[in-house]
Amino acid sequence: MRMYDLIMKKRNGEELTKEEIEFMIEGYTKEEIPDYQMSAFLMAVYFKGMTEDETVELTMAMANSGDIMDLSEIEGLKADKHSTGGVGDKTSLVLGPMVAALGVPVAKMSGRGLGHTGGTIDKLESFPGFSTDLTKEQFIQNVNSIKMAIIGQTGDLAPADKKLYALRDVTATVDNLSLIASSIMSKKLAAGADVIVLDVKTGKGAFMKKEADALALAREMVKIGTNAGKETVAIISDMDQPLGFAVGNALEVKEAIDTLNGNGAKDLLELVITLGAYMLVGTKRVENIEAAREKLLGTIEDKSALKKFQEFVEAQGGDARAIDNTELLPKASIVMEIKAEEDGFVEKIETEEIGMVCLLLGGGRETKESEIDLSVGLVLHKKIGDAVKKGEVLATMYGNDLKKMEIARERFLLTYSFSKTPVAKSAFIKWIITKGGVEKY
Ligand code: URA
Repeated sequence: MRMYDLIMKKRNGEELTKEEIEFMIEGYTKEEIPDYQMSAFLMAVYFKGMTEDETVELTMAMANSGDIMDLSEIEGLKADKHSTGGVGDKTSLVLGPMVAALGVPVAKMSGRGLGHTGGTIDKLESFPGFSTDLTKEQFIQNVNSIKMAIIGQTGDLAPADKKLYALRDVTATVDNLSLIASSIMSKKLAAGADVIVLDVKTGKGAFMKKEADALALAREMVKIGTNAGKETVAIISDMDQPLGFAVGNALEVKEAIDTLNGNGAKDLLELVITLGAYMLVGTKRVENIEAAREKLLGTIEDKSALKKFQEFVEAQGGDARAIDNTELLPKASIVMEIKAEEDGFVEKIETEEIGMVCLLLGGGRETKESEIDLSVGLVLHKKIGDAVKKGEVLATMYGNDLKKMEIARERFLLTYSFSKTPVAKSAFIKWIITKGGVEKY
């Protein structure tokens, strides 16, 4: 078998066999197939797509490209959650401690930022000393003792996805249904949890801009998870504007802490409670979704989730004092207010571009090797439907380079459009997809 022939086959729109996909993934993992050939293949997939069968085979080949985590030493059913990526998405930082506080073991493998979207690991590294580089033994021990641990994608788990993810990021081949579904599900299957809850984003700041594409992605992932014997649920949520208010690593950590302190944005809280409820019911901790929602809210009221977050940060070497005193998080040297230049109601926000503005400030990666400035980003003061007066602050921008900030300010102003008449807000959570089918939320 030759990689050249597989590239040509896909370029011509043909379906690859299981053996061909396995050959390709094994060869790429072992570095027998070079990046340039894999890049060409990815671009062919981008234009020609993959069938459902090919996507399942690609997922399984990637999941089996390294170790499969054996979580049998952790008591009870384990839950994992994954987002398809968005702007301002700090969900895991809030959700993890909430469900862990209720006794659900959260054994999570997270990623770094990709394209215009942020990643949980980068965010957590805002805590000085925090490390996701745990051995398998430490990981299991932490989940057993404090019910929550997050590891980075180690070389041993789904290594094929680790290499492909980085390659897709720099070859404009991220936003393809099969590539996203197989990337996410290969990691989830290798990470070994019993219950997988997927947060599938749709809208201007998501990889899946159209709701129909997000639904197709969600269905595909639920199918892959269910076939592999995992209880899998997907929730489709709106990414037509950033989630919550903060965009940027340390700023999002601060927002997560505020949320655990009871001062969270409505959309963020709604998402966390919904995802969490499915995790609690899936792991059989609570009988029904309504009761689970109540219990989750209780972890904010009694501060048990905040305490859990502290324990978790400490257990992974981070300076948890920053939870009580957010001044200890990385801080930008320049703070700039961005003011509205007209009156109106916020009608649209170019969310992906907000992610790009954050990247321009230094908050994201432009190449595989880029270093991130954790302190920079934006805090929005106005979201869709809000009334705005000329001169009112739309957002506060945090940066360390005035020149970049001037450019970022101009670009940011272009991301907002206004209407002269009031704007209706659309539903935030749209669909729930289980093995039984699709339900309107
Ligand atoms: N998140 C992933 O893990 N993989 C993708 O391809 C996109 C988002």
